[in-house]
Amino acid sequence: MDQSTAPTAKTPLVDPFQRAISYLRVSVTDRCDFRCVYCMSENMTFLPKAQLLTLEELDTMCSTFIGLGVEKLRITGGEPLVRKGIMTFFDAMSRHLASGALRELTLTTNGSQLEKFAPDLAAAGVRRINVSLDTLDDAKFAQITRWGRLPQVLRGIEAAQKAGLRVKINAVALKGFNEDELFTLAAWCADRDMDLTFIEVMPMGDIGNEDRLDQYWPLRDLRARLAERFTLTDLAERTGGPARYVRIEETGQKIGFITPLTHNFCESCNRVRLTCTGELYMCLGQEDMADLRAPLRANPGDTEALEQAIRAAIRLKPKGHDFDYSRQVVDGKMSRHMSHTGG
Ligand code: GTP
Ligand code: 5AD
Ligand code: SF4
Repeated sequence: MDQSTAPTAKTPLVDPFQRAISYLRVSVTDRCDFRCVYCMSENMTFLPKAQLLTLEELDTMCSTFIGLGVEKLRITGGEPLVRKGIMTFFDAMSRHLASGALRELTLTTNGSQLEKFAPDLAAAGVRRINVSLDTLDDAKFAQITRWGRLPQVLRGIEAAQKAGLRVKINAVALKGFNEDELFTLAAWCADRDMDLTFIEVMPMGDIGNEDRLDQYWPLRDLRARLAERFTLTDLAERTGGPARYVRIEETGQKIGFITPLTHNFCESCNRVRLTCTGELYMCLGQEDMADLRAPLRANPGDTEALEQAIRAAIRLKPKGHDFDYSRQVVDGKMSRHMSHTGG
C-alpha cells in the first residue's frame, strides 16, 4: 500500500455516511438476573460460557477501539454486573481514563447489583450510570421484570448516588403499563436529582406471547401528555447518545426521549456494538455483523489484523434501522434479543 494512504492508528473511524465512530457499547454477558417481558422470553437459552471473550480479550478489544479513536465506552449486557470478575475489567479500563484517551467509562444496568458494586465502579472512574426502571410499583415491577424485586433496585440506586455516581433512569414507555406513572416517575426522579429518559419499545427478538404493537406507546403522545401540565423547552445538549432532551421549566428537570420509531436518529449515529462473543454489530437494527474474535485469537499479542477487521467492518455500517409500526404491523424486526447486542 502507498505509505501516504496507509491508515495509521491515528486515522479516525469514519463510516460511509461520514459519521465518526467514537462510541463503543460492549455487552459483556448475554445473561441477566431479570426476565423483562419486552426483552426476553421466560425460558432463554444463553451462550455457553466457553464462547465468551475472556476479560483479557475484552480488554484488548476495547483498548484497540480506543486506539482507533473511541472516546466513550458503555458496558451493557444482559446485566453487565452479573459477569464474573467484571470489576477487574472496569479497573483495567480506568487506565484509559487516566491517559485521557477515554472521555467516559459508563454502564447501563438493571440496578440489582449496585448495592454491592457502586463504590468500586466510582473508584474505577465511572461517573454516570443509566439504570433501567419502568415502574415504581412493587407488583408491577415484579410483573414486568418477572424475576426482579423493586426494593433491591431502589437500594442499588441509593448506593450509587451515595458513591457519587450520577444516575439517569431509563424507562421503556409501555402502553397500558406505565402510562399512569408518567408524572409519578418524573417527580420521583426530580426529587432525587436524577435525569429520566423514555424509550420507545423496539422489535428485538422473540419474547413469547407479548405483542409489540400492544406495548407501543409513541413518545410524541407521552410528550404531549407532559406538555398538558408543564412548559417544555427543547434542549440542544447531547450526551453522545440518541436521546433528545427537554427541560421542564416548572421543576428544572431534564427529560430525554429515545424515539427509534417516531423519529429516526440514525443520521447522527456515532456508535457500534460489540457482543460478549466478539461480534461487532454496526447497527442495533440490522443484521450486518463482523466477527472480531477470529482475528483477535489468530494473532496473540498483535492487534494489526484486529484493527484491519474493525476498519473493514466500519466501512459496512448501514445507514440505519428499519423499525416501523406505522402500518399497524411490526416491520424491521430483529431476530436477536436486546441482551445479545446490548441495547
Ligand atoms: P447516554 O450516554 O446517557 O446518552 O446513553 P445512551 O442513550 O447512549 O445509552 P442508554 O444505554 O441509556 O441507551 C438507552 C437505550 O436506547 C438503549 O438500551 C437502546 O434501547 C436505545 N438505543 C441506544 N442506542 C441506540 C441506537 O443506536 N439505535 C437504537 N435504535 N436504539 C438505541
Ligand atoms: N425496546 C426498547 N428498549 C428495550 N430494552 C430492552 N429491550 C428493549 C426493547 N425491545 C431496554 C431496557 C434497558 C436497555 C438496556 O434496553 O429497558 O433500559
Ligand atoms: Fe435484563 Fe435489561 Fe433485558 Fe430486563 S431489559 S431482562 S434487566 S437485560
